[in-house]
Amino acid sequence: MHVLGVDIGGTGIKAAVVDVTTGALLTPRQRVLTPQPATPEAISIAVARLVQSFGWDGPVGCGLPAVVKDGIVRTASNIAPEWIGFDGRQRLQEALGRPVALLNDADAAGIAEMRFGAGRGRDGVVLMLTVGTGIGTALFVNGALLPNTELGHIEIRGKDAERRASEAARKRKGLSFTAWAPLFDEYLNRVVALLWPDLIIVGGGASKAFDEFGPLLSAPVEVVPAHLRNEAGMIGAALYAASCLPALPPE
Ligand code: BGC
Repeated sequence: MHVLGVDIGGTGIKAAVVDVTTGALLTPRQRVLTPQPATPEAISIAVARLVQSFGWDGPVGCGLPAVVKDGIVRTASNIAPEWIGFDGRQRLQEALGRPVALLNDADAAGIAEMRFGAGRGRDGVVLMLTVGTGIGTALFVNGALLPNTELGHIEIRGKDAERRASEAARKRKGLSFTAWAPLFDEYLNRVVALLWPDLIIVGGGASKAFDEFGPLLSAPVEVVPAHLRNEAGMIGAALYAASCLPALPPE
């Protein structure tokens, strides 16, 4: 089965057709910048254009950097506040004229890593961190997702953790990955003290430099880089759509 996976981030929107049986991308990835301000209207139009560029008329799975409960968006840290309380799934379905499954972007990335990446076959408590514009979290217990965790927003030294330790924070502060490592390590230690996961998977933009900062981490937990890198969000959104859209049109 093939599904178009869309990953809406605070900075860019990416999409590709995904084979949900193998996790492979069947088309080159397309990327556009997230419109600013990132209102529901502006994002829906941008996603519709992106989907049209594939000439795609099948189902669509979409990750959004926000808490999403039953299609309704409940938070907006890196997108416009107009999203809060907005029926994102319905708006996207109208804009795209086809069924859309909508979920949190970090949950999508986690679903993909658990199925095809660094979390494959791993039981126990696994936490996937998507370190990009924000810090997204996806928490799994024996492979089952506890959706919409927002552990990027725990407070560290009086500040929202993602404002101190995300990839965007690293760039904003002009830090190398080695100089940023202690900030991220402090975050990891705090998260470990709260959850004691068995494995932490680091994905998102920062994951490409894992070799630079990984050896500097002290948190008492196994920490590994994501395998699917920046593709995890698209693949996971497609997997989620395949698992929950009621009547999938034929390919
Ligand atoms: C949002 C999360 C999102 C994460 C990564 C955070 O600011 O609150 O919902 O998963 O960024 O995009």
